Amino acid sequence: MQILLTGGAGYIGSHTIIELDKAGHSVVVVDNLVNSKEEALRRVSKIIGKQVPFIKADVRDREALDKVFKQYKIDAVIHFAGLKAVGESCEKPLEYYENNMNATFVLLDVMRKNGCKNIIFSSSATVYGDPAQIPITESCPKGHCTNPYGQTKSMLEEVLIDVQKADPEWNVVLLRYFNPIGAHKSGLIGENPNGIPNNLMPYITQTAIGIRKELGVFGNDYDTPDGTGVRDYIHVCDLAAGHVAALQAIQRKCGLGIYNLGTGHGYSVLDVVNAFQTANGLKVPYVIKPRRPGDIATCYCNPAKAKAELGWEAQYGIEDMCRDSWNFQKNNPKGYEE
Ligand code: NAD
Ligand code: UFG
Repeated sequence: MQILLTGGAGYIGSHTIIELDKAGHSVVVVDNLVNSKEEALRRVSKIIGKQVPFIKADVRDREALDKVFKQYKIDAVIHFAGLKAVGESCEKPLEYYENNMNATFVLLDVMRKNGCKNIIFSSSATVYGDPAQIPITESCPKGHCTNPYGQTKSMLEEVLIDVQKADPEWNVVLLRYFNPIGAHKSGLIGENPNGIPNNLMPYITQTAIGIRKELGVFGNDYDTPDGTGVRDYIHVCDLAAGHVAALQAIQRKCGLGIYNLGTGHGYSVLDVVNAFQTANGLKVPYVIKPRRPGDIATCYCNPAKAKAELGWEAQYGIEDMCRDSWNFQKNNPKGYEE
């Protein structure tokens, strides 16, 4: 199939190109590079041994997007494009609502006008809020999202569900990602956050390489085995492979599909620090800090539905994730900036 990846220069998108290529799909990327670098795509080209067609454009630019659909015969879209920093979304709610909502509205309209009705949407475990049950299944009620970023994901899920309901020719797959970490084994691509990392793993790798003095562990008084927050970390390459499985469902004309993409295992912050130290033979200094506002104690999924219906399950363990995250950081001390 010919697949359009919006936001395909980003962390998850760049890894997904490789899996799509392996599965025999062709890709074209549209990204405005607001949170990524074209260098990531050059490196993906090196890995797959072919050029990645790239159009630098904003998904909200209707004309530019329409041109892409006219030039390439797009069979399906994987919609990664969006702003994703939880904290920043609380400071700039309007920017987040405007970008994430409008980009999706324009995209869906341009798709419809060009007769493309197949979409995979990057959703998030954040839609469950403070989850009503652990492990989280897809039937778990969506919760109250504590930040505008999460709200956009939850609202866009509703939009996509309604679009599919109104026109059953649409195939819509909502993938609720848990916590992607790790990097491609080549060490050429990985997570390259701007500024001070918000997320745990890039903070750990930047501490290990000496950019940060020590990791702050946000709270050790949660109701978890060691008191620190528990999450479902998933290797980004496993997550990428989940998109190939979702495309197969689209080819089978799945209608609406909603899937958790996680491993089903919960690891605490200190578990991750320990796994990182063991996998890489390094010390990561840390201090306990107060809880971070908006955090929950525990979030991990039951990934059985994705296994049963998509034939997908995660292959990598926490040590693989820690090794590959470090491999990218070590090979690219300044990310893509060199
Ligand atoms: P990322 O920031 O690395 O990638 C997103 C890409 O979208 C970036 O390259 C950015 O430049 C681009 N973009 C943003 N707005 C755009 C617009 N209007 N037009 C064109 N391009 C635009 O993020 P990621 O980690 O690769 O995440 C991909 C998707 O998955 C996002 O929608 C994110 O919300 C979602 N998600 C991520 C996580 C995570 O922890 N990384 C978890 C759950 C869901
Ligand atoms: N943490 C620290 N110190 C840090 C960073 C994080 O102790 O410097 C802790 C957090 O308190 C939490 C855990 O590490 O307990 C994971 O935090 P992350 O920020 O890495 O991830 P979150 O679970 O908070 O959120 C991430 C993405 C969201 C996405 C969600 C899906 O940031 O966008 O995963 O599960 F929605």
